[in-house]
Amino acid sequence: MTAAPRKILATSALPYANGPIHLGHLVEYIQTDIWTRFQRLNGHEAYYVCAEDTHGTPIMLKARADGITPEALIQQVGDEHRRDFAGFNIAFDHYYTTHSPENRDFSEFIFNRLKEKGHIEVRTITQAYDPTEEMFLPDRFIRGTCPRCGATEQNGDNCEVCGATYAPTDLADAVSVISGATPVLRDSEHYFVRLSDFEPMLREWTGSGRLQTEVVNKLTEWFDAGLQDWDISRDAPYFGFEIPDAPGKYFYVWLDAPIGYMASFRNFCNSNGVDFDTFWAADASAELYHFVGKDILYFHTLFWPAMLYGAGFRTPTAVFTHGFLTINGQKMSKSRGTFITARTYLDHLDPDYLRYYFAAKLNNRVEDLDFNVEDFVTRVNADLVGKVVNIASRCSGFIEKHFEGQLSGALPDLSLDARFQEQHEVICQHFENREYSRAIREIMALADLANQYINDHKPWIIAKDPDQRDELQAVCTQGLNLFRMLITWLAPVVPDLAERSAEFLRHPIASADALRCIKQPLLNHPIGPFSRLLDRIDPDRAQAMMEETQLMFDEPTRPSAGKHLHDDPLSSEISIDEFSKVDLRVVRIQTAETVEGADKLLKLTLDLGGETREVFAGIKSAYDPKTLVGRQVVMVANLAPRKMRFGVSNGMILAASGTDDAGGIFLLSPDTGAEPGMRVR
Ligand code: 2FM
Ligand code: ZN
Repeated sequence: MTAAPRKILATSALPYANGPIHLGHLVEYIQTDIWTRFQRLNGHEAYYVCAEDTHGTPIMLKARADGITPEALIQQVGDEHRRDFAGFNIAFDHYYTTHSPENRDFSEFIFNRLKEKGHIEVRTITQAYDPTEEMFLPDRFIRGTCPRCGATEQNGDNCEVCGATYAPTDLADAVSVISGATPVLRDSEHYFVRLSDFEPMLREWTGSGRLQTEVVNKLTEWFDAGLQDWDISRDAPYFGFEIPDAPGKYFYVWLDAPIGYMASFRNFCNSNGVDFDTFWAADASAELYHFVGKDILYFHTLFWPAMLYGAGFRTPTAVFTHGFLTINGQKMSKSRGTFITARTYLDHLDPDYLRYYFAAKLNNRVEDLDFNVEDFVTRVNADLVGKVVNIASRCSGFIEKHFEGQLSGALPDLSLDARFQEQHEVICQHFENREYSRAIREIMALADLANQYINDHKPWIIAKDPDQRDELQAVCTQGLNLFRMLITWLAPVVPDLAERSAEFLRHPIASADALRCIKQPLLNHPIGPFSRLLDRIDPDRAQAMMEETQLMFDEPTRPSAGKHLHDDPLSSEISIDEFSKVDLRVVRIQTAETVEGADKLLKLTLDLGGETREVFAGIKSAYDPKTLVGRQVVMVANLAPRKMRFGVSNGMILAASGTDDAGGIFLLSPDTGAEPGMRVR
């Protein structure tokens, strides 16, 4: 007897409509997509919705900087996002936008309900205001001197030098990043949700087994610290929804973003005949899951359930939280050249490779996950190509050549078949629990058994003996049926490979219910001719992807704060813009020689990665020229040429030194891994 199908709605966090999708985002989309595909293949009614997160100050300002309307910006970025998601086979049932009539309606509805029930409070608060731009400034749009350590140009809410956190009003000499003006303090009325009204409900909800242990521990800290009222309004100018009966006041983007999950689903229901209330009414029987990153937990485990409950909707069945992605062990960053966008990846590599690699590493804990390029190539090639696809390619040729593509009528080794079948529930349970790495481990262990079976029965030997035709057909039929089971389990992970395998086997792999039919072998069945199901990853392609990533953000990033800061020409400080005019490069010393008649100078030839320069450096007292050859140092590459007595110096290399000669000279060198020509900033 099979259990009744479940009704499931899953979501991933809505990406902001002002930047590209990158590999960090994809951890979550791939995680959710595997899970919802798995549920569908298991016969359940599972939907996956998402949307563009379109509101807020950064999007308004980005549109302004690009000289377009916010509507045009969100359309343009939304189109790019959709293309990227399609490229990775993220099978949303619906992908919508928070800038939609449904979302406005739900936002107003939820707000009005909370207001009627007395959960909204209006209070006057004092905030930093940019008198030039005539707008209130979010903390991240203010910079100034840290009140604790005196570091300049620190963020409005925390200091990157000493780690202090503070209010923007605590900054000494604060400036607006937008206009450069000195912010003034100004009062304004704001709308707050009294979160503490929901404390009993939230304690109950968060404590009833729907959250991971690490998340529950974090929530305990938040409860202990006391639930603060939540400011849900922002003043004009703002790109968002105006609050009903409050001209010039807008819903804060984080109010309408999660409501975007509902709005997207509502829009989907309208055109697909699905009943919305079954999924969202207070007594809904369906299950609701949100996949999120650990950085947005507060919103999803406190504000969101409180809003839903307060407005009379159901609360989420569970929130599934994952960690961050690191690249080769490091935080993803543009300046480090590790900001791999979805587009750059797809320009070089097959999406199934990444889907498989993430699946092989994902578990259900809030742990960071590392994308290590070498490991990625090795793992995918060894597992997917070397183990799984290999089974099919070892068996298919004989079936094609000797049996006109026809499989035999029985399996010769029923115990091996049973061994595979026994693991079915275990593998499904791992997928259900989001323990994908465990599921993959089980599947690969079975792939090893299948390869072992083929090694033991050596079809390439039997094929030489015309008296053993039945045996040959049976062994290859067994092998191909083992392959069929493996690829069926892998279908949620590698949909393109599953699709090609289905064509080859002439049997649906990724149809609804495929998992439930996995135990029925393909017998007396015609298969197609074998074509390459998956190529190995060419390490050069992976390398090319990394190189393109490094180049993509090579232009120095210029914070918009720069041009307004410290305009005083007498000031000894320089602005970030002035600093970024200095073109610092990693170079390799090709030759180093003493200069006839010069006590202090060495003549150096520097390799900038394609170009060479001759430079005179006053480092003779500290370095034997022979020891310098091959060493990497840092040079100022755009210094005007200087004519010296011994020739022209085309640049300068950097060294630390004490105040007098006795202090020594210390050349600056990059860490291992840097390459000639790289920019230093
Ligand atoms: O952190 C983010 O990228 C947000 N755009 C996520 C929103 S998720 C949901 F609540 F809308
Ligand atoms: Zn500080």
